[in-house]
Amino acid sequence: MPRTRSDVLVIGGGIIGLAVAWRTAQRGLSVTVLDPDPGHGAAQVAAGMLAPVTELQYGEVPLLRLGMASNARYADFAAELEQASGLPTGYRACGTLAVALGADDRGELHELYEFHQRLGLDSSWLTGRECRRLEPMLAPSVRGGLHVAEDHQVDGRRVGAALVAACSQAGVTLWQARADRLTVEQGKAVGAVTDAGEAIDADQVVLAAGCRSHQLDGLPEGVLPPVRPVKGQVLRLRIPARYTPFLSRSVRAVVRGRDVYLVPRENGELVIGATSEELGYDTTVTAGGVYELLRDAHELVPGITELPLAETSAGLRPGSPDNAPLLGPTALPGLIVATGHYRDGVLLTPVTADVVSEYLATGHVPDLAAHFSPTRFAVQDARR
Ligand code: GLY
Repeated sequence: MPRTRSDVLVIGGGIIGLAVAWRTAQRGLSVTVLDPDPGHGAAQVAAGMLAPVTELQYGEVPLLRLGMASNARYADFAAELEQASGLPTGYRACGTLAVALGADDRGELHELYEFHQRLGLDSSWLTGRECRRLEPMLAPSVRGGLHVAEDHQVDGRRVGAALVAACSQAGVTLWQARADRLTVEQGKAVGAVTDAGEAIDADQVVLAAGCRSHQLDGLPEGVLPPVRPVKGQVLRLRIPARYTPFLSRSVRAVVRGRDVYLVPRENGELVIGATSEELGYDTTVTAGGVYELLRDAHELVPGITELPLAETSAGLRPGSPDNAPLLGPTALPGLIVATGHYRDGVLLTPVTADVVSEYLATGHVPDLAAHFSPTRFAVQDARR
């Protein structure tokens, strides 16, 4: 069997795996990324909202802190990545407006605002009229809103392309094949075998294969909990120059109990997302999914019906059992994971890359990531 060797092997070349590889190579380690199509993961579909505050769920304060830490790193991460790759990332520091349409929605959104205030977060409450002053295309039925000036956006597709280029610049080997099997010798992960039968040996193996991470053959039972696919359908519209500025910031709402968001890019794209469906590995774009997104987005911004519909797509978010990421060393020596980012993969890319590369280079997990150890489920299982 042909063999090759690196200090670190990263299985999975979505933006999480590539960012880990890039940061690790910058620390002087030799890195190979194993993926049939590097740069093409769930981030190809994602809207790229960097919105830890407006997406805050009750009971997820540790995740909020991790998301805010990543958001705070994004401007520098994007600038460095653009410099290294010579490619744009679409990073846009534009803020986010979460709006409410009915009286019940308004009440719920105001509770979120009060929660923000208790946590000392920077958000402001606006009347419907103040919301429309910020975003004149909003429907007259908008009753109030929450403005978060620090919740921004980036283009996941561009980040993927830039990371491929930056990794190549940094000497990362991009090995275009599928990981067939994890190699475990004497109770330690020591590499992987590709679907072409090549063996890649490594001192440390990082598993960053999104919602397929737990499916890798050779992974001993109990090392990684199941990471389930959560389908998200997304639309891409084009904003003709005569309509700009159509929206100046990301706009979101909960309509009929479902999240809908509109993310206007600087390049004239308007991303509308997203459904949330637990249907296994299905990525079919359905008439119902497109209809619901257009109907809900139209309630917020009626003018979208004038825009050309450029693309429909569906991606798979990797959801862990508690919907928080799995970051750091596992119970199997030599195996580190960076997966389970669920709705926050694009947002958490910079902090994941920093945390995992720190561990790979020093053997130390930064305090920020202690709550997200992949071994937390083993502890829960043992208590049952
Ligand atoms: N973060 C938005 C989504 O997953 O739909």
